[in-house]
Amino acid sequence: MESVPVLDMHKGGVYYRPLQPSDFDELKDAHVHLFPIDYEDSFFAKAVKGLSKIFTLGAFELKGGNETLVGFVTARLMVMNEMDSKDRRHMGLIGDCWNLEHAAYILTLGVSPKFQKQGIATTLICQLEQQAATMGARVVFLHVITYNKAAVRLYKRCQFRCVATLEDFYSISSGRQPDPNRVKWDAHLFSKFVAVEVLEQGRNFLSEGFGPLRAALDTCWPFGCRQQCAGASSWISLQGSRVLASWGPRQHASPDIFRRLFSRGKTS
Ligand code: ACO
Repeated sequence: MESVPVLDMHKGGVYYRPLQPSDFDELKDAHVHLFPIDYEDSFFAKAVKGLSKIFTLGAFELKGGNETLVGFVTARLMVMNEMDSKDRRHMGLIGDCWNLEHAAYILTLGVSPKFQKQGIATTLICQLEQQAATMGARVVFLHVITYNKAAVRLYKRCQFRCVATLEDFYSISSGRQPDPNRVKWDAHLFSKFVAVEVLEQGRNFLSEGFGPLRAALDTCWPFGCRQQCAGASSWISLQGSRVLASWGPRQHASPDIFRRLFSRGKTS
């Protein structure tokens, strides 16, 4: 699993592709506008370069030959023995048998306000699940601050399950939180198992090369997303799509942002 194919694709007027280094500034701006948490530049650099096992998908509006980032999802593939043990317990991933299995952790997901409520986040999540499965992840999980009702609805609609609510998980001092005087905020832990058929297809996909791309994607659309992404099938048919091997070689987790992100309290 040295590199994994990613697709360029269109849906409606929006174009989806993995993030690349030239997206750094737009990605950073979007995070500042959409999140109360301040992320370090090293996070954006790793995201756009696909380092530290981060994989991404961006949604772009194409106008006059220019593309504008309107949505994104960033996630990290991790081995379960790197995960927080309490998170694992909440997700039912107990026992050494899970230690060397993989999970995909959604780090950030956002859509610029003008483009919200058009299904872009749903598409990003569905596609991310597909990519995670292709990379061998058994579960996709994430934390979301409890007051973020839109995101909670979104994940529930995408068949994620809230398995725990973690007190004082976030430590936010950016001033962009609803109450600037309050630093500690609770988080929900959401998870979703990757359907076995998705995983199998992902493995076959990797072992047989990239040839049967269309067949694989047609059949391994995640269970939970099939209904949510009804209408996306023509988009996912990939006609005219390019196949890119854009995930770089696997690398060891870097100690900085991820140590913070995966520690019990995220800091702003
Ligand atoms: N016409 C009308 N409504 C639609 C359409 C459509 N074509 N497509 C989707 N919708 C509706 C959905 O049913 C949903 O309805 P709901 O609000 O009743 O639940 C709503 O639009 C949103 O669904 P999407 O369009 O798929 O989501 P969107 O692209 O608007 O993005 C998100 C949602 C990511 C939460 C966005 O509001 C956002 O960026 N918020 C700020 C950042 C944020 O909170 N990110 C998530 C944090 S958690 C984390 O990062 C791990």
